[in-house]
Amino acid sequence: MRHLPTRTTRTSGRTVIGALAAGLLCAAGATAPAVADSPTTAPAAAISPQSDNGLALTPPMGFNNWNSTHCRAEFNEAMVKGIADIFVEKGLKEAGYQYVNLDDCWAKPQRNADGKLEADPVRFPNGIKAVADYVHSKGLKLGIYTSAGTKTCDSVGLPGALGHEYSDAQQFADWGVDYLKYDNCNNQGVDAKKRYTTMREALEATGRPIVYSICEWGQNKPWEWAADVGNLWRTTGDISDSWGSMLSIMKQNLPLAAAAGPGHWNDPDMLEVGNGGMTDTEYRTHFSMWSVMAAPLLIGSDLRKATPETFEILSNREVIAVDQDPLGKQGAVVSSTGGRWVVAKEMEDGSRVVALFNETGSAQRISTTAKEVGLPEADAYTTRDLWQHTTYNTAGGISATVPAHGTVLLRVAADSKWAAYPPAVELGLNGSPLVEAGRSAPLTTTVTDLGRTPAKSVSATLTGPSGWQIEALSPTGTDAVPTGRALTTRWQVTPPAGTATGTYDLKLSAQYRSPTGTHVRSSVPFQAHVVVAPPAGNSYLSDLPQLSASNGWGPVEKDTSNGESKAGDGNPMTIGGTVFAKGLGVHADSAVEFYTGGACSAVTAQVGVDDETGTNGTVSFEIWADGTKVASTGVLTNAMAAQPITADVSGAQVVRLVVTDGGDGINYDHADWANLRIGC
Ligand code: GLA
Repeated sequence: MRHLPTRTTRTSGRTVIGALAAGLLCAAGATAPAVADSPTTAPAAAISPQSDNGLALTPPMGFNNWNSTHCRAEFNEAMVKGIADIFVEKGLKEAGYQYVNLDDCWAKPQRNADGKLEADPVRFPNGIKAVADYVHSKGLKLGIYTSAGTKTCDSVGLPGALGHEYSDAQQFADWGVDYLKYDNCNNQGVDAKKRYTTMREALEATGRPIVYSICEWGQNKPWEWAADVGNLWRTTGDISDSWGSMLSIMKQNLPLAAAAGPGHWNDPDMLEVGNGGMTDTEYRTHFSMWSVMAAPLLIGSDLRKATPETFEILSNREVIAVDQDPLGKQGAVVSSTGGRWVVAKEMEDGSRVVALFNETGSAQRISTTAKEVGLPEADAYTTRDLWQHTTYNTAGGISATVPAHGTVLLRVAADSKWAAYPPAVELGLNGSPLVEAGRSAPLTTTVTDLGRTPAKSVSATLTGPSGWQIEALSPTGTDAVPTGRALTTRWQVTPPAGTATGTYDLKLSAQYRSPTGTHVRSSVPFQAHVVVAPPAGNSYLSDLPQLSASNGWGPVEKDTSNGESKAGDGNPMTIGGTVFAKGLGVHADSAVEFYTGGACSAVTAQVGVDDETGTNGTVSFEIWADGTKVASTGVLTNAMAAQPITADVSGAQVVRLVVTDGGDGINYDHADWANLRIGC
């Protein structure tokens, strides 16, 4: 995962895998407790590792405590029962959520005299069976956790199931467990396929249907072999409650679409929706994309404290239906350029769910067609917005201006009843305005008819913060807009003199009627940035205001390395033994934007992986001038000294500094933009 000084016990537990390899296989055997069982003690009945357990025909849905509690004391019987109650009371059970899963730290540190696992007596004073009975009494199912290693992942070192597979599986079955998450820590270098297959056979030998969730973090490419072993397999390291983490995990999981299907799913880790580290727009994106990827939907927030918005997101039946579609296809990427993603999922009824997903920090037009997403040719289609819960007709165009970090989720069908619905219109903007206080910036908006039918009595409205002057320089209304045509309006936007730099919310709205008289109102929020031109001469970018910033772990740090969680928790930036006083400390995947207003010429820096990650971490650095990549380093490792990077940014309005993960996931990717300067 990441590298935090306070968690070295855990991280070192994980890095053991490659380093120890075969030598420790023997050691593990030699030190195995006397009560350990092994495949040889298994019942003699032939168990086919190829057979299908018939479970998880759609991706599992439920709850797991890890993302909200880790091992903190509030993970206990009261919490688990409380979640089960809420599943029933708030309609989540009705909506499909079924499994209530316990993660790490439910167990006592020692097995009992019979070699059996026991529940932590403080957290679960009545034992696991009592919890299972309670959960079952609500018509729900119970999940549990252990590791395919000698100990689980928590630094306390709770017992793992390696060498105890058959008795632990039987123990779980006796308690009434319905789901097992089987982790990867302290695995003693034993071959992953072997470890996970043994547990699969042990589960099967119990005769109890138990969903089997493989959690080896994608280290051994489980998408290539685990369909015959488990019902789902993690494809990545751990998610955290940040935009950068969610994004990076999504990007690792998207290309694996072909491996998923009923009974065997890619698992990009559990949901963070509601945990507070992302905006509701970002959580809607998270939930939309997990559903389009046919990912397990395991709620990771403490629902006893959740906001109405969290419930609204997690209970969206139309989005859940995308995830749970019986055809079981994972959506695939149709296109992705400049952070504008089109991902389409084929549904059992022949429709396609199309996610128009905006990775960038400003509103973007994202566009595709019915043909591109695989729909048959037709005069027109219906297109249903799964967050707005509204249906329109389209002549084939599928496009929208998508707010920063947002996702427009549409279910598009070649449906003969299309004429019953008003035409879809697309609200368009030419970019997100960058404007200096007291000065005017131009903005052009469009209201385009995507429908087969005309839009009547069309009007456009633009609103902004109080005190801002927003003036239309051309007509804001027209009698009718036919298929493929647009109402185009030119505006002038002026923030009052003295407005502080920062982002400000504006909204473009359109109103129109369908030929049959239905009134439609739609709108798109976007942001204007009040900016100041950088000073003439040479400046450190860490001293200038940022237009936007996203980061894999924690915030982007000024003049220190990245400490992974709170602002100001970094160390002096150090690359290859050299300490740098100025720069930006980031964590892949990261992007930081600066307004340069066409007035700057060059960006220079010394870049590399910070020494604090030990021997780990690979990243690559890129500098973008407006939409063009103007410099990049290729992959840099922790072993390398700081490398110079220089980019010509002449004429650019915006400079974007990007760090990617070097192709191997974001673990340990602490990247320093040291000595980062701009000449203007
Ligand atoms: C690993 C897993 C997580 C969680 C923790 C528990 O990091 O990947 O999902 O189960 O262990 O310690």
